[in-house]
Parts: sequence; C-alpha cells; structure tokens
Amino acid sequence: MSHVVLVGMMATGKTTVGRLVADALRRPLVDSDQQVEARTGRTVREIWERDGEPAFRRLEADALADALAAPTPSVIAAAGGVVLDPGNRALLTGAEARVVWLRADTATLTERLRAADDVHRPLLDTDAEGTLGRMHRERARLYAEVSDHVIDVDGRAVDDVVADILDIVEVVDP
Ligand code: S3P
Repeated sequence: MSHVVLVGMMATGKTTVGRLVADALRRPLVDSDQQVEARTGRTVREIWERDGEPAFRRLEADALADALAAPTPSVIAAAGGVVLDPGNRALLTGAEARVVWLRADTATLTERLRAADDVHRPLLDTDAEGTLGRMHRERARLYAEVSDHVIDVDGRAVDDVVADILDIVEVVDP
C-alpha cells in the first residue's frame, strides 16, 4: 500500500481533506507544517521570522522525507511550498506514494483565505491576492510534475473531493 500525498497551494484544503481521507482509510494523517511545529516547538511564523525562509524550507524537507520514509501507509498533507525544492520533487516522484494535486483558482484561494487563521502563512501578510496569483503561476508546473492525479476543488464540497481521492486509492490499492 502506498502513501497518499496531497499537494497544492495554501488553502486548497489539504489538511481538512487529508483528515477525512485518513479517517476513512484508518490511516494516520501527517501534516508537514504540524510536524515542523511539533519538532521545533515553534510556529511556522516564528521559524520564518526568526530564522528565515531557507531554515524553514530545510525543516519542511526533513518532515517530508521522514513522512515518505515511514513504513506505515499514511495520508500526508504536504505544505504548499514543498515542490519548490528539486530534492523534494525527486522524493515525491520516486516514493511509494500516490500524489494528488488539489488545484484551485486564485480567486477561490483568496476567498477562502479571507476567513482563515493565517498564523502559519507569513507569505500572505502583504498583497495576499497578488502573491497567491504569482505563486500559482510559478508553481503550477511543479505540482503537475510531481502529481499522479489532479483534482479541481473550485466550487466543490469537501466530501466530494474526499470521495474522489478514496476512488483513486481504491483503484490503486483495492
Ligand atoms: C507555504 C505554505 C504553508 C506554510 C508556509 C509556506 C507555501 O503551508 O508551509 O506558510 O510556501 O506555500 P500550507 O500549504 O499548509 O498552507
């Protein structure tokens, strides 16, 4: 059985969807931001502000590598930026894992983020909409490169997205 890895931009629902998929499959959910916070005892924002983005990215890469190396099949909600690093991309494409890209338009993400608690998203402190649009343009090809499946989440209920992922897993690991 393979890990199920959810990738995609911030606010595409990786953690929410991942929790429901993990519960349905009776697997652990590993959220890479939460792993980083648990290991360091600090929030993503604190790490980012005190040590800088490169330090955060190293912790993020370690969390992803450990999650993928774990023998128990799990559901991994990978933070939005994991695809920026070529080493992470190689791990994702080489791992025993089904990688699912939760894709959304920038307008959907902007709307969702208005209501969100952004303690772990320092990149969006200024011009959230412009930043999201730029990030989406820069990263879309990277998400495409690592993923086995793409699910469009625009306008869709969480339960429908979860059902799509469970269908994928059922086909791959019946
Ligand atoms: C980031 C995404 C965030 C968090 C950090 C940077 C990114 O995680 O790791 O703010 O670069 O896309 P989520 O995708 O879980 O929001």
